[in-house]
Amino acid sequence: MNILTVHGSPDTEGNSAKLLTACINGMKKSQEVEIESIQVYDYKIEAVWKDYFADVMKKQTVKIKDDMPLLKNKMLKADIILLASPIYWYQLSGKLKLFVDRWTDFINPDFSTQLKGKGLALLSTHGGSHLMNGSDYLQLAMCATADFLGMTWMGAVDCRAKMHAEWDDGLSVEQAKLFGEKLSRGVNLIGQKVL
Ligand SMILES: Cc1cc2nc3c(=O)[nH]c(=O)nc-3n(C[C@H](O)[C@H](O)[C@H](O)COP(=O)(O)O)c2cc1C
Repeated sequence: MNILTVHGSPDTEGNSAKLLTACINGMKKSQEVEIESIQVYDYKIEAVWKDYFADVMKKQTVKIKDDMPLLKNKMLKADIILLASPIYWYQLSGKLKLFVDRWTDFINPDFSTQLKGKGLALLSTHGGSHLMNGSDYLQLAMCATADFLGMTWMGAVDCRAKMHAEWDDGLSVEQAKLFGEKLSRGVNLIGQKVL
């Protein structure tokens, strides 16, 4: 199984990095997993532009000079793409959202996509206030995005990172580790073999 992990916080040692590390440790229990881990803040990703979708249909997005061709190659090599994001206003971090906007590049004129058959999974951490709803909305959005792109939704682990105390009670870390083990075997969060 080839897994691409994409970390999306400017803090490389923050809460979502910790949750991602636990998940990767779980993946490494499998002998047959190849993991590539990248930090989205390390790459230049241009926002979509006027007439972007028309350029997608004509396969002309390469006219914009950024790191998307490199990132798209990494995605095409992967069986599973795992995003790890802090929750920013109920959504992905801005930089990760920009990256996901550019997945539109993969849509073909007949609306088939080059991401078909790949797994999509999510890790997120949020501030801990119940009023902020954690990753509820984001999980719905990413599950729908996976569906639209012909990807298989593998599930999500969200961690309530307490604002003024220890960052986690340990349960989410353990859940992320188990999720990593499952992903490395092509199994989704609830234990179904889907890849
Ligand atoms: C711009 C911004 C927006 C945020 N929005 C939310 C939010 O909507 N809900 C929430 O629970 N926490 C929110 N938070 C808190 C972060 O999600 C939380 O601190 C997260 O664990 C940070 O992850 P990191 O350490 O990996 O950067 C926000 C933080 C920032 C900086």
